[in-house]
Amino acid sequence: MRLKNCYNTGDFRKLAKQKLPAPIFHYIDGGADDEVTLRRNTEAFNGYDLVPNVLTGIDSVDLSTEVLGQKLKLPLLFAPTALQRLFHHQGERATARAAEKVGSMYGMSTIATCSIEEMGALTQAPKLFQIYVHKDPAMTVDLIDRCKAANFDALALTVDTIVAGNRERDYVTGMSTPPKPTLASLLSFALHPQWSLNYLFRDKFDLPNVSKYVKDGSDMKSSVVDYINHHINSRISWDDAAKMIEQWQKPFAIKGVMSVADAKKAVEIGASAIMLSNHGGRQLDGSRAPFDHLKAVVDAVGGDIEIILDGGIRRGTHVLKALALGANACSGGRFYLYALAAAGQAGVERAIGNLRNELERDMMLMGCSRLADLNETMLALRPRC
Ligand code: FNR
Ligand code: LAC
Repeated sequence: MRLKNCYNTGDFRKLAKQKLPAPIFHYIDGGADDEVTLRRNTEAFNGYDLVPNVLTGIDSVDLSTEVLGQKLKLPLLFAPTALQRLFHHQGERATARAAEKVGSMYGMSTIATCSIEEMGALTQAPKLFQIYVHKDPAMTVDLIDRCKAANFDALALTVDTIVAGNRERDYVTGMSTPPKPTLASLLSFALHPQWSLNYLFRDKFDLPNVSKYVKDGSDMKSSVVDYINHHINSRISWDDAAKMIEQWQKPFAIKGVMSVADAKKAVEIGASAIMLSNHGGRQLDGSRAPFDHLKAVVDAVGGDIEIILDGGIRRGTHVLKALALGANACSGGRFYLYALAAAGQAGVERAIGNLRNELERDMMLMGCSRLADLNETMLALRPRC
């Protein structure tokens, strides 16, 4: 498999598997427990069929939209993901530059391998910072101040990771950060010399957003699971979220809301958006797929708060279905992470380019020239056999 042969997310996944040592690939690819939710996040889109309109006289398609106060050329955001320099030595820099080129919004994780300050200066594109609330309350206040100073446009508070999901693939492969080859994984690192050389001789592994506060932040000899369980504050509440909104004063999303009751609370505390998400199936297995729950949430709070459908997106048609059902935009992680691992910035650019081409083509085939033309009448529930 080569980059020029990657036409879809599945192709990038294959190339990423080829390029990465097994512990790293499975960290990206895996989910919690039996991975039922991970699979369903994508399968859910098959629950509805698209019903196109024809003879609508279209000659061009406009994919632009506005979300979290930013004008975007594409209704698909780069969800925040951790540790990107482990996946490719260009890491977050590649993702942010590709997001800028395509006119989307780049999401940065608290546990990124580049700093808020560097990423703030790197691109002019819209940027979102994702907050993991750690046990030291001063750290959250400081992170928000750093984001303000670095001109980030939006914050997303992740609320579905107060304890780590049970990611059994990571136990089996011995995934830790920095990677600590076990007997079982040693062979895999040896068989991927390019990755191993980049890892050893490029910039030292670091988590610059947290290293100031967390002793083992820049050199944690622990797994991601240990990190979350030791450092993340499981007691965060709606009051804490409200305080962050007050401090930030700019567009604010709550990431990991699923229930209608929580969506209403997000409206009450003045959040700008919810990211309807189960963390890509990495946390609570058996929990509902965002797309399966989208209609209930849109019926309850649509128009009162922006709804970003997060997770499972592998094709342009998945985005179209979510928008037709009332989402304001979509976001995803693996669609660009496989591509980052496969070929760095060139990979991410090709992956998002493929998805943009799919979206344009599929909009034409649906008879729509603007995203606002999509609506629920263009979807029909799949008949059950
Ligand atoms: C994530 N995700 C995530 N979310 C978050 O709020 N902070 C983080 O640091 C991370 N890290 C992370 C690492 C990896 C490897 C993955 C795959 C995911 C979750 C991410 O933002 C998003 O919710 C999911 O990726 C959506 O599912 P898909 O698009 O991957 O199916
Ligand atoms: C993950 C965390 C870091 O999903 O959000 O791996």
